[in-house]
Amino acid sequence: MPRFDAVLFDLDGVLADTAHIHFAAWRRLGEELGIHLEPAFEEKLKGVDRMGSLELILAHGGPEGSVTRTAEEKRVLADRKNSYYTAAIAEQTPDDLLPGARRVLEEVRAAGLKIALASASRNAPPLLQQLGIASLIDAIADPAAVKAPKPAPDLFLEAARLVGAVPERCLGIEDSVAGIISIKDAGMVAVGIGDPTVLTSADYVVPTTEQFHIGDFL
Ligand code: BG6
Ligand code: MG
Repeated sequence: MPRFDAVLFDLDGVLADTAHIHFAAWRRLGEELGIHLEPAFEEKLKGVDRMGSLELILAHGGPEGSVTRTAEEKRVLADRKNSYYTAAIAEQTPDDLLPGARRVLEEVRAAGLKIALASASRNAPPLLQQLGIASLIDAIADPAAVKAPKPAPDLFLEAARLVGAVPERCLGIEDSVAGIISIKDAGMVAVGIGDPTVLTSADYVVPTTEQFHIGDFL
């Protein structure tokens, strides 16, 4: 009997090669605000939702950055970053999937497991369409519908609920530190995609999506 009933996927950096596109959009906004984001800052923003990312960036610019801006001013800044991001991904096609992403989804389906998306991105549904993988996914957890964003467990618990799986029988796959914490706090098994010295709380770490095989976990 397989150990899992469902696999819950992050999108940016796991299925789609979009993690660096999010960061490039934040860097552009940062430069406009006089806040330089060094390359190492990318790791801190992975998995963090839009407003949470903006707060981290403003704090990086100095202690006054957040408190001196109104909620409306912050919304305008977040919208501006999103306009840079959506313009950059407008031309994404199935060729922009991370290597192995489609094969991984197909193997999980062939193994009889459900697939849900647990992405913090509000841009996930149109991106899945562009990448041609929407039909391979059974359910998408809506980040706007849960109480707390990653690293809270809410989004992964919602993804599990949508496909009728109990947390102990879910495998979560993530490229971010925040996401791995969500999966573990949800009581699920966590697979990190990336560097084991960064994703230290993951149960398993695989360097790239291409090297992930569901058969290794069943
Ligand atoms: C996550 C990304 O998947 O989605 C983050 O790792 C991003 O970098 C977050 O901030 C929210 O995305 P969006 O598209 O709703 O701004
Ligand atoms: Mg990610």
